[in-house]
Amino acid sequence: MKFITVDTYEKLSRQAANIISAQVILKPDSVLGLATGSSPLGTYKQLIEWYEKGDIDFSKVVSVNLDEYVGLDGASDQSYRYFMNKNLFEHINIDLGNTFVPNGCAVDLAGEGKRYDEHIAELGGIDLQLLGIGLDGHIGFNEPDKYFVKSTHVVDLHESTIKANSRFFANIDEVPKRAITMGMVSIMQAKKILLIASGKEKRDILEKTFYGPITPEIPASILQLHPDITVIYSEK
Ligand code: F6R
Repeated sequence: MKFITVDTYEKLSRQAANIISAQVILKPDSVLGLATGSSPLGTYKQLIEWYEKGDIDFSKVVSVNLDEYVGLDGASDQSYRYFMNKNLFEHINIDLGNTFVPNGCAVDLAGEGKRYDEHIAELGGIDLQLLGIGLDGHIGFNEPDKYFVKSTHVVDLHESTIKANSRFFANIDEVPKRAITMGMVSIMQAKKILLIASGKEKRDILEKTFYGPITPEIPASILQLHPDITVIYSEK
C-alpha cells in the first residue's frame, strides 16, 4: 500500500487526477471504476481541465460506477447518474453509452445486481477503481455488517450515512433509505485501487481501515488485502 499525505484538497485532487490520467494514457480503453460524493469532485474538475487542454482522450474509456440510490433515475438531480453526467461525463469526450451506473429503478433489483457484476466481468474487470470512504468505513455503499457482501446488492443505508448524505438534499427525509452498490468482489478484483479522503474527520476511520483488524464492521478494511492500492489523504 502507498499512503500519500498532502496538505490541501487541491493537491489531493491533482495527484488523484494524475494517477487516473496516467492510467488512461497508458491504456486508452481502460475500465475506470468511479465514485460520487464530495471527495472526487476536485479530481473530476482537474481531469476536465486537462481534457480541455487536449492532454487526455476519454473516447475509448469505459466507466462503471459504484452505486446508485434505489428509486432515483438519471432524471433526478440527486441520482448518482445525474451527478456523474453533470460533474464529469458531459465535459469530456467519453461515449455516454460506455458509462454504466447500477439501475436503482430496476423492477428486479437482485437481477440488476447480477447483471451489473456479469457486465463488469465481461468488460474484463476494472483497471482502476476510484474510492471515497464513509465515516463508518463504507466503500461504495457497503455498510458495516457481520460479513462482507460479495456481489452487487441492495443495502439499507445506515443512519450515519443518511445523515452525512443529507447535505445534498433539501432535508433528511428526502434521502433515499436504500441503495444498490457494487460488492466487494468487483472492487477487490480491480487491478488498481485509488482511495481518496480529505479532512480531519476522516483521519480516524483511515487509521482503523488501514492499520486495524480486517473486519466487515469496517468494510474498507478489506482493502488491506489488495495488492495495488494507493491512498491519498489531505488534512484540509
Ligand atoms: C459514492 C460512494 C461513497 C462515498 C463515501 C464518501 O459513490 O461510493 O462510498 O465515497 O460516502 O463520501 P464523500 O466523498 O462525500 O465524503
